[in-house]
Amino acid sequence: MSIIFHEETKVFHLQNDAISYIMMVLPNGKMGHLYFGKRIHDREDFENLLELVPRPMSSGIFVGDKFFSSQHIKQELPDYGTGDYRSPAVEILQKNGSRISDFQYHSHHVEAGKPLLPGLPATYTEDQKEAETLVLNLVDSVTGIEAELFYTIFAQRGILARSIRYHNKGNQSVYLGRAMSLCLDLPDCEYDWVQLSGAWGRERHVKTRRLATGVQSIGSMRGNSSHEHNPFLILKRPLTSERQGEAIGFSFVYSGNFLMQAEVDAHDNTRVLVGLHPDTFTWHLKEGESFQTPEALMVYTDSGLNDMSQSFHQLFQTRLARGYWRDRVRPILINNWEATYFNFTEDKLVQIAEKAKECGVELFVLDDGWFGARNNDFAGLGDWVANPERLSGGITGLAERISQLGMKFGLWFEPEMVNKDSDLYRSHPDWILEAPGRENSQGRNQHVLDFSRKEVVDCMFEMMAKILREAKVSYIKWDMNRSITECFSKSFAPEQQGEIFHRYILGVYDLYERLTTEFPEVLFESCASGGGRFDPGILYYAPQGWASDNSDAVERMKIQYGTSMCYPISSIGSHVSVIPNHQVYRNTPLHTRANVAYFGTFGYELDLNKLSEKEIEEVKEQIAFMKEYRSLLQFGAFYRLKSPFEGNELVWMVVSEDKRTALVGWYRILNVVNDRFTRVKLQGLNEDFCYEVSQDGTKRYGDELMNLGLVTSDATAGQTPQDEIPCTDFESRIYILKAVEV
Ligand code: GLA
Repeated sequence: MSIIFHEETKVFHLQNDAISYIMMVLPNGKMGHLYFGKRIHDREDFENLLELVPRPMSSGIFVGDKFFSSQHIKQELPDYGTGDYRSPAVEILQKNGSRISDFQYHSHHVEAGKPLLPGLPATYTEDQKEAETLVLNLVDSVTGIEAELFYTIFAQRGILARSIRYHNKGNQSVYLGRAMSLCLDLPDCEYDWVQLSGAWGRERHVKTRRLATGVQSIGSMRGNSSHEHNPFLILKRPLTSERQGEAIGFSFVYSGNFLMQAEVDAHDNTRVLVGLHPDTFTWHLKEGESFQTPEALMVYTDSGLNDMSQSFHQLFQTRLARGYWRDRVRPILINNWEATYFNFTEDKLVQIAEKAKECGVELFVLDDGWFGARNNDFAGLGDWVANPERLSGGITGLAERISQLGMKFGLWFEPEMVNKDSDLYRSHPDWILEAPGRENSQGRNQHVLDFSRKEVVDCMFEMMAKILREAKVSYIKWDMNRSITECFSKSFAPEQQGEIFHRYILGVYDLYERLTTEFPEVLFESCASGGGRFDPGILYYAPQGWASDNSDAVERMKIQYGTSMCYPISSIGSHVSVIPNHQVYRNTPLHTRANVAYFGTFGYELDLNKLSEKEIEEVKEQIAFMKEYRSLLQFGAFYRLKSPFEGNELVWMVVSEDKRTALVGWYRILNVVNDRFTRVKLQGLNEDFCYEVSQDGTKRYGDELMNLGLVTSDATAGQTPQDEIPCTDFESRIYILKAVEV
């Protein structure tokens, strides 16, 4: 890895074994972008990449050079008003009404490692040799605003991290009207655009379309990163598949409003912008103050989508997630939500825990309903004190009972919310986000606390910390069950109201930071009505997230497959739940429910007391299996082999680091009569190892399994032989592959 600067030509070249990122100071002083892609040789002069051709009707011609127009030049920090008519990355609103700025190169320096982003989640290094950071200093001379552009290149893989910090060194306060974290100008538009989108209960489905002239975008203006669109985008070449071809993945390390857009101009150049959603953001930047944008990540690969995903997985798992749980296998848990909803007593909870303990479950999680007057979702949020009518010994007492069973205890919170029917609201009615003189919109009968205010965050911290200090709590499920409306804070001046969405998220991060600092061994799982805030920002604090409220095994195939495009398996909260399933009322076999949930953190969300003895035996086997293989499942190299978005089958697999063990998950959605011969080509094995395949005890070399494939045909429909158990819909199998001596 190196960051090269050619003094004479003013060319910067960031490179490692995988990628090159090249830019230069342009003749007009702006930062021009030249190349991002597979590593290429360094040269003194890359000016040819500017692709200067005379174009009639161009504006922004640089004096003395009619070829040079900002309209066509690829830029690092395109600003508004100086001839680049594409969407800008920055807009500075000034006292005189002007929004025009002209950021020009001033200086630069290189730092070993990667600086922290104050108050914000970001990827990090543990050793300074892991990465290098180039900091470019650009200045807009009229306002005196300085922009520091951070580019971190990691030693391993094609990863680049970017962010921008603005300093007001001028003598007037301004507004940042737009402060995107990343601009990437690409020289063509031959790409498919791939996004992860959906809604509650069907989050992160893979959607692909062809990039076209004009602007296409995804984003959120809901205050949370949203069920609807994940802050993740892939531009891939049309022929790129999981196994081969070029792709660039973009990820935004942020949990609030975002925008990811691609603009294809009249000459088929593509501008990608990633950052805070400009429609819900302005920041009053006073003299002497600074503003740091969140981090955006780019991953380049020429080896297919799976390789891109593995780069994100490794980065997120090892250099975004933090703390005690980062490298540890996750406890197998049981959560009482779908088992009881609000209808539980302490004894009932203990009964559920006892049965779970008997089966081998390690952690009991008490979900919603344990506090204040929370007997339904109309009351109680905000009063984080146990309801003595339900829990006579409080949380301390229940946690003690669970602990005596030999299990860990976990607890649900929704710290950002309040019901009007609560003591908290009655004593602090001004603590909610609400516009003066207007009726507040409703969402799940609750209101959003104003986390832009420090005293609100302080209060939540004290309430939560009190419980964590007193009771044996090892896990917290942090929920967030409504999006923000009427985003107005009573404690900020009119000129700062455009900051509230962002300040809210900074408040959320602050609370997470304080809790994870004081309670480093508590495992946090994020949740927002399932997967409404499943993003890299939250992953920095909570190494796992409840992927969706939809716990049906078939629905989960798509949700978890889509999620794996960007997020590691260790981050995907996945449970076995009851049938008929509570979201889609579908009956799936118990083994299929587990076979899907294994590819995640794994747990149960039902009352095991209601299962038959035979089913309990199966559950015990499942838990024993997960304990044996969870390290491989959660931390092995993950490959997608067949997509549930493209056919009747899903196949994915994990391979251990030494390649001696692999697990293949095979799932067939509907049964097929008299089916064709089916096989699937595996990946990531050692060609020369001979693997024993658990299903039939056969021995196959890695090269055969990867080139000819693993045979998955069976006799599950039609005239099944008498001695075979017939399969039906929603069949699945886990193949265990172990290298053996021959
Ligand atoms: C949200 C979560 C669920 C559960 C309920 C409790 O919907 O996603 O898992 O915790 O809240 O109210």
